Formats: sequence, structure tokens, C-alpha cells
Amino acid sequence: MPSKKRTRRKKKNEELNNLAETLKSYGLRDKDAKKQSGKHRGPPKARSVREHGDPRFAPIIAAALSKQGSVKRATHSFHTYPAGMHPDCARMIIDACPGSVHDPFCGGGTVLVEAVLAGRQVSGSDLSPIALLVSNARTAGPELATPLRSAARKIAAQAQLRIDVDVHEDLNNWYEPHVAQELGRIRDEIPKYAQEVQPLLRAVFSSIIVKSSYRKSDTTNHREPHHRPVGTTAVLFHKKARELGRMLENMPSSQPHIFEGNACTQIPPEPVDLILTSPPYPGVYDYLPLQQLRYLWLGIENAKVAQEIGSRRSFRAQGRQEALKEWQERTDEWIKTQTSNLTPQGKFAIIVGDGLVGGKLVDTLFPTVESLKRCGMKVVARASADRPDHARGAIRIEHLVLAEREG
Ligand SMILES: C[S@@+](CC[C@H](N)C(=O)[O-])C[C@H]1O[C@@H](n2cnc3c(N)ncnc32)[C@H](O)[C@@H]1O
Repeated sequence: MPSKKRTRRKKKNEELNNLAETLKSYGLRDKDAKKQSGKHRGPPKARSVREHGDPRFAPIIAAALSKQGSVKRATHSFHTYPAGMHPDCARMIIDACPGSVHDPFCGGGTVLVEAVLAGRQVSGSDLSPIALLVSNARTAGPELATPLRSAARKIAAQAQLRIDVDVHEDLNNWYEPHVAQELGRIRDEIPKYAQEVQPLLRAVFSSIIVKSSYRKSDTTNHREPHHRPVGTTAVLFHKKARELGRMLENMPSSQPHIFEGNACTQIPPEPVDLILTSPPYPGVYDYLPLQQLRYLWLGIENAKVAQEIGSRRSFRAQGRQEALKEWQERTDEWIKTQTSNLTPQGKFAIIVGDGLVGGKLVDTLFPTVESLKRCGMKVVARASADRPDHARGAIRIEHLVLAEREG
């Protein structure tokens, strides 16, 4: 596409996104903005999907990779999380592979939610404390729905009283003063409620931190000042808690094991039948620093940023070659660690996509397959799809690889 046209389209998308945000901040429905844009949330359409390998699995893998658009079912739409897997994609892979499920890069918990819904034994880990907060909230049981709503109603009422609270000075830059005060009051009220409901209240609080700030979105630090009327931040908190409560009512009671862990060193807690995961693509995101506003509000210190794999900042700091070498070494390490507790018949499914470094694409399929082979795994089937990356004006190839032990 000629670059002028691309710039015009990018600008139009930005305008539509701004419109959506503005509508939301005035309490109007997101649907109104979507109607104007005609666009869906979720992964963009996969073009030209190619499949290879075992005909029992290859069509399933290709169909799973082709899933697109937003999914409202279960708890998937609660709390934003960058680069989430498509829930239907996770579900198709889970349905094709029996037994327990583990995701060592669980992020917002898409795989965990789908595995819980499928009635499997489930575990997941991640380096990011926000990933753990979101994953735990999305897999919580229906018994917490009522206590959550009741606590949130009282907190929202309290947050509207004009009592001065302390707010970290780094946060004041990102909020209108009355919004920062309402958020501070919500934060201070949460510890007054029962232990079991506090993580859910924190997750709900976390879900409005970026939305009510000047930050344009979760994945950028660009500022977009907008006005949020007095009292609406507390109302938004209550609304989000009610939404999560409604979603939890339809979740099964389950106890997934979700814990902090570096995928390179932390083996799955039990022998596992399916590892289904999506590691960071090289040079695309800085998952841990992106959550800085949330760390400040939630009092989270020492998020383990140095252990993050494939971060964008590492490519900037070390240069393409060095950072790529490091990404490949980390890929070797995490695949080896995770394979070490895979059952003999177990399956390993990885979704990985081209990285983007200095405007150039970085292939991830070959190094991933080579790492699997070095761990005694062979590829059963795989699929690849061209995925338009509207934000960066590029087409990136995404791959879904299904592997099992040799022999
Ligand atoms: C592509 S996202 C996973 C998204 C997830 N599949 C979902 O649906 O939300 C990659 C995740 O890897 C995590 N991560 C990065 N380096 C890690 C490491 N060394 N160990 C564990 N998790 C890591 C990031 O925090 C991020 O949540």
C-alpha cells in the first residue's frame, strides 16, 4: 500500500480510537464508537494461513490460528492485557489435547480460563505481578461474586467523599487532581475488606488505572489529556466490579495453581500433559515496564524486569544481533525447562510471531523449532499466518507449532 494511504489510514484509526476513549470517559457505550469504526477488538484477521504436518492436527492448528475478533464469553473481556491469545484458539488446542494444562507465560490468563472452563487441572506462571493479578481474577470462582460487588459498592461510596489522601508524586502527572484523589481513596479502602476479596478488588482497581489516566493506552506512554468529571472514577470502579461479578457467576469453582516464575528456570509444578503458551515476540513489547502506573498505585516494587525475555528495550540497548542471540538462548532455556516436566505422551503448543526490530522483521519459527528439537521434541503439525500489524504498519507472520516427544 502506498505510504501516504497508510499514513491516512493510521491517522483515521487514531481518530477513531480517540473517539472511543472520549465516548467511554463520558459514560457512553463503547459500541457507539465501534459502530462508527466498523472494527472489532482482538487479533486482526489472519491472511493466507498455511498448514503443515499430521493431517489429524494440522487443520485444527490452522483453524485455531485463524481465530479473530473480540470474545465476550467468560471473564476474557475483564482487564486489558497486551498481546492476549485468542480464547477460541486456546480452546481448540485444549480440546485437541487431553489432560492437565500449563502456561508458563500466562499473561492475562486466556489459556488458564479456557482450561478451567474445559474442566482441566490447570497451572500457570508469569514474571509480571500484573499478569498474576489478572489471571487470578479471571479464574476466580462464583462464590466471590457477591462479596466483590458488595465491597465495591461501599468503596465507591467512600471514594466520593472529599477526604484528602496521599498520592505518589510520580502519579500526579498522569491524572487530573480529583481523579488521582478518587483513585487514592479506592486504594486506601481495599485493605479494609476480607482477605479473599482483596485480590479481586485490586484487580478491578488495576483495570481502571490506565483508563482514567492521561495515558493513551496500555501499550504506549503517549499522553492524551481528557476530562473525567468528578465522581466518575469511583462510579467506573463500581461498574467494573459489577461486570466482573456478573462474569464470575458463570465461572466454575476451580483452583488453578498460578504463581510467579521465570519460565527459563521454573519447571511446571506437576507433570503436565499440555503446555500451551505464547512467549514474548522479540523486540515487540516491554511487558513489565508497561505496567509502571499500576506498580505505583498497587505498591508493587521490584518487578523482575531484568529477567524479561525479548524486551523491546533490550534490542534498543544491545543492538539487533546481540539481543537476538540472547533471545535464542532464553528460548532454548525456557523450552528445556518446560519440557522437563512434560508427560511422555504430552504435547507442547507454542504461538510465536515475527519480531520487529528497527522496522525489520525477525523470524522466530526456525529458532523455536530448533530449540524444540534440541530438547528431544519433534513438530507434529504447524500453521503460519500473515497478520497485519496496524500499529506498526507491517505484516508479521505468526506461527502455531504443536510438538511431542521423539520416538
Ligand atoms: C505474549 S504475553 C502472554 C499473553 C497471554 N498468552 C494472554 O493470553 O494474555 C507474554 C508474557 O510473557 C511474560 N514474560 C516475559 N518474560 C518472562 C519470563 N522470563 N518468564 C515468565 N514470563 C515472562 C510477560 O510478562 C507476558 O505476560
